[in-house]
Amino acid sequence: MAGHIAIVGAGLVGGGWTIVFARAGEQVRVYDAAPAIRQGFMAVVGQQLDDLKSYDLIDDVAAILARIIVCETLEEAVRGARFVQESVLEEVPVKREISNQIGPLLDPGAIVGSSTSGIPGSAFTEEATNRERFLVTHPVNPPYLVPVVEVVPAPWTARDAVDGALAIMAKVGQSPVLVRREIEGFILNRLQGVLLREAWDLFEAGYASAEDIDNTVSEGLGLRWSFMGPFETIDLNAPGGVADYAARLGPLYHSIQKSRTDPQMWSDGLIGKVDDERREVLPMDGLAGRRSWRDRRLMALAAHKAKQD
Ligand SMILES: NC(=O)c1ccc[n+]([C@@H]2O[C@H](COP(=O)([O-])OP(=O)(O)OC[C@H]3O[C@@H](n4cnc5c(N)ncnc54)[C@H](O)[C@@H]3O)[C@@H](O)[C@H]2O)c1
Repeated sequence: MAGHIAIVGAGLVGGGWTIVFARAGEQVRVYDAAPAIRQGFMAVVGQQLDDLKSYDLIDDVAAILARIIVCETLEEAVRGARFVQESVLEEVPVKREISNQIGPLLDPGAIVGSSTSGIPGSAFTEEATNRERFLVTHPVNPPYLVPVVEVVPAPWTARDAVDGALAIMAKVGQSPVLVRREIEGFILNRLQGVLLREAWDLFEAGYASAEDIDNTVSEGLGLRWSFMGPFETIDLNAPGGVADYAARLGPLYHSIQKSRTDPQMWSDGLIGKVDDERREVLPMDGLAGRRSWRDRRLMALAAHKAKQD
């Protein structure tokens, strides 16, 4: 199917998606409701492309920028698109309203993916015209450096829309994973949630500092996680593979799970203590600089992984 890519909502994530699609050679039309975002958009994307170029992750910044058009209306961006990536605010009424506006503008066969971090699509696409063309395509920030995309159909999403979304994501160099049916938080944030839950609980009970809990991941678990997941990890960590690992360590994990039976909200007091520790290591005015450092580390890792592949 011919047609361009439409980006609806051009903040942090919509900007990242624009790079993903334009870098892959797609014509991209961008719309954001805020005039200031529309006006500053090309400069923000240009800066990110310059950074990518400095890590040899792209060749021709000008050619990528030339594929991007910022539109003044939603209709201008969406009409004629074969794929629409929606990245507006993470609020059900806002997502519902924009889905209802996008639906009637769709060409036959077009697909709409939402970047929602954890809201099932059925919570905001039920009343949309052409609702069988809507699903979730959840990225990680920034999507042009972290390739996984969770593809999550609503109960009414057409099978060919799911297949089409998987194919488009693979074509533009992302790594789509299919979440077969809706669940809050999908897979990525459910996995992250389990780890965060333990991190908060261990910190609260005084077993370790926030820094040492972080180091356990950055200097330990996380090194493997940049190229293999939890199942492959345990498959390689016992002489007889995953079944052997389960026989040896299954009882330990079962016992840990049984000790966590009382889920709690993260309390203000607890958040305050972690915040105090973090702000001592990284004052508030250092956050932006540290984010740039994180992105440069991700670029170096992406460049390394590209060479291995
Ligand atoms: N930030 C992350 O790390 C991250 C990661 C994965 C997914 N997401 C998801 O991506 C989505 C966007 O998040 P973000 O971090 O880019 O937020 P953001 O605040 O940076 O951007 C949201 C943009 O949507 C625009 N907008 C709001 N209503 C609109 C409308 N009706 N039409 C067009 N534009 C509209 C706003 O002007 C704003 O520019 C959310 O659903 C979020 O959960 C965020």
